[in-house]
Amino acid sequence: MSTVGVGVIGAGKISEQYLANMATYPDLDVRFLADLVPERATEVAGQFGVPAAVTVRDALDRDDVEIIVNLTIPAAHAEVAASALAAGKHVWNEKPITVDRESALALLQQADTAGLIVGCAPDTFLGPGQQTARRMIDRGDIGEPLTASVVFQTPGPHLWHPNPDFLYQRGGGPLMDMAPYYLTALSQVFGPLAGVAALGSGSGPSRTIGQGPRAGQAIPVDVATYVTAVYDFRAGGVTQATFSFDSPLARVGVLEIAGTEATLATPDPNRFSGDIRLIRAGADDWQTIPVTGVEGGRGIGVVDMARALRGGGGHRATGELALHVLDAMLATAESIERRAFVGIDTRFEPIAPLPADWDPTERVV
Ligand SMILES: NC(=O)c1ccc[n+]([C@@H]2O[C@H](COP(=O)([O-])OP(=O)(O)OC[C@H]3O[C@@H](n4cnc5c(N)ncnc54)[C@H](O)[C@@H]3O)[C@@H](O)[C@H]2O)c1
Repeated sequence: MSTVGVGVIGAGKISEQYLANMATYPDLDVRFLADLVPERATEVAGQFGVPAAVTVRDALDRDDVEIIVNLTIPAAHAEVAASALAAGKHVWNEKPITVDRESALALLQQADTAGLIVGCAPDTFLGPGQQTARRMIDRGDIGEPLTASVVFQTPGPHLWHPNPDFLYQRGGGPLMDMAPYYLTALSQVFGPLAGVAALGSGSGPSRTIGQGPRAGQAIPVDVATYVTAVYDFRAGGVTQATFSFDSPLARVGVLEIAGTEATLATPDPNRFSGDIRLIRAGADDWQTIPVTGVEGGRGIGVVDMARALRGGGGHRATGELALHVLDAMLATAESIERRAFVGIDTRFEPIAPLPADWDPTERVV
């Protein structure tokens, strides 16, 4: 078997984490980086030892890569992914998979017809933090899971992101940017969602960039910056969730699952590791439970895909799961707009947990 060649499109903020991590995953070999802005691709490729910086057009003609990792902004995800599939490449997309159901569905159909696969972030749910929590819940440590509580609230990413425009436009906001982590983690405990009732609000028509070369520049806000939602799961289970860019008080990573016998607080679902806390009914205090497994980081879903391509079974962060999460987020936005309960129609096949000793830094293919 042989290493899987990878090409990356999108040399922005998150490319730094991907490129640093993928260099430590021996099943992957990153062969080039491309961006709409060629100088950005050249600069970042140089920083991370990527052998080539190419134009997007040339990227798709390369025959030495099997997977394109699409790290462009949400509004460009569909177009870049569709071109990569048309060029015969498998695709790993950053989240959200696209910004509307039609284009996400079209991508999955295009891939299916071409015999290619689509994977999508987040892959944090494959990290030891969420996987250890899942193993505990699967073996009955909290009894029957009943409900969950989610909190993600910050003053907003315009304070730290050098180009935060997309985070306040269609495809962004605290819902489309952050809910993927929480809804994906919840989906592994409760299964597919059935519907949502939500309210949203905003704190003003613009934000001012806080850092980087554009600091002080105002950008427009086109989305709700506060979203509160109640989710109903098809197989039972109810969750309340808050996603906010309108909170001077930052409180993030809260995902608590209450069962018939105990409540489990998972590590931050936007991180790969961290402690698990558990409190039993009647107990006074939390127990802290260390997670087990190799941490890895963004890009472990690409390793899982690469191993699946070389015959290691199905991959886990599937396009089908990402479409379901997108459907749930769009239903949340529609619920806000219509002030009504909105059904969620898509589903996904159950996703097998990773073996406890799964290691992205090991050579497997
Ligand atoms: N920044 C983070 O902390 C973070 C964390 C997790 C996930 N993400 C996700 O990663 C993706 C990228 O986010 P980012 O923060 O790196 O954004 P960014 O704006 O910093 O970078 C995006 C890059 O994509 C390039 N690009 C845009 N359209 C393109 C196109 N059509 N073809 C080629 N290149 C194109 C831009 O020139 C830019 O360099 C988003 O989907 C975001 O949700 C970001």
